[in-house]
Amino acid sequence: MTIFVTGGAGFIGANFILEWLAKNQESVVNLDQLTYAGNLENLDRVNDDRRHVFVRGDIRDRALVERLLAEHRPRAIINFAAESHVDRSIDGPEAFVQTNVVGTFHLLESARVYWGKLENETKTAFRFLHISTDEVYGSLGFNDAPFTETTPYAPNSPYSASKAASDHLVRAYHQTYGLPTLTTNCSNNYGPYQFPEKLIPLMIHNALAHKPMPLYGDGMNVRDWLFVGDHCAAIRCVLEAGQPGEVYNISGFNEKTNLEIVRTICELLDEMQPDPAGSYTRFMTYVRDRPGHDRRYAIDARKICRELGWAPLETFETGIARTVRWYLDNRGWVERVVSGDYQNWVAQNYGGR
Ligand code: NAD
Ligand code: DAU
Repeated sequence: MTIFVTGGAGFIGANFILEWLAKNQESVVNLDQLTYAGNLENLDRVNDDRRHVFVRGDIRDRALVERLLAEHRPRAIINFAAESHVDRSIDGPEAFVQTNVVGTFHLLESARVYWGKLENETKTAFRFLHISTDEVYGSLGFNDAPFTETTPYAPNSPYSASKAASDHLVRAYHQTYGLPTLTTNCSNNYGPYQFPEKLIPLMIHNALAHKPMPLYGDGMNVRDWLFVGDHCAAIRCVLEAGQPGEVYNISGFNEKTNLEIVRTICELLDEMQPDPAGSYTRFMTYVRDRPGHDRRYAIDARKICRELGWAPLETFETGIARTVRWYLDNRGWVERVVSGDYQNWVAQNYGGR
């Protein structure tokens, strides 16, 4: 048996593949375009594992995807491939529409053709699992109830709008063609191999490099944080037991302001890698806010807990300590990732702030 993963050289996709191959016999075909966010080094541990077949390519390339599906005959497609960074979507939304909307459309079409030719149990058992985000639901006030699976969509950034559009296409392919789709909407992930453009790895990297740790606005925006390994476990649960056509929200039940996150990172670094010149808090800086910055995300994930028996294993305290430790132990990985183009992005995003 085989699963077909897209975007498996990125942060969550790579964590998913590493865990999948450690826990299952089944092989994985990994289609990834290797954009700036894709990094084959994330998959070094499975380099010699014949169950991992890596193909460099674009989810929009129908001929390639249809050929790979026909050749490997997967029992499921899991779509992680996306442009994923909100600030980049503000700076240049087109790539987001191309990959997240047009790409998901082409992947759905390829899946529909492939699934249409399957027979009997293979056809019934096939799944198209689409990995989405809580950002599609928009922004909450401090006293609002968390997002549920029936909260109306209200995306506020080009990134979340493109993910919302892809979710609608996935829904339509189930309703119209009967494609056995599953959608997960997850909150903010953190953990090993996250690209240091996102809050947690960026703050760790900047602190260690003695650079400003830039908090947008008043630092009081709230996110609901989940350790990436717990997200991967939730995806495995949904793949095995989720009901076709259903949506599952996923989160760590763990709301924190950005200020709390950055203070925690400083405390952990002060403990694990003390700087003789003083606490890392001295690098914390407030900068101009992100346009359209969603104030608060909070996810009600009780459906997946109740129906599929999933629960996060990592607390924020254990997960963030593991994460800071990983970044300290993998300085070489970070240094290689932040060389080259990354510097241009930092200059562009933070230069005028
Ligand atoms: P990422 O940016 O780290 O990785 C994305 C991967 O997709 C990269 O390897 C990239 O090369 C690949 N890719 C991009 N365009 C492609 C294309 N056209 N064809 C093939 N591959 C392509 O993203 P991530 O943080 O790992 O997120 C993975 C998925 O999870 C995304 O769909 C994202 O929307 C969703 N998500 C992320 C979070 C989070 O906190 N990171 C939370 C909820 C949902
Ligand atoms: O909620 C799920 C989403 O979480 C995913 O769908 C996205 O792919 C992922 O990037 C993430 O989006 P956010 O915008 O919430 O993540 P980011 O790490 O960019 O920012 C987290 C918070 O930290 C947000 O309120 C903005 C703030 N921030 C971010 C950066 C990069 C700062 O204050 N300073 C920064 O330099």
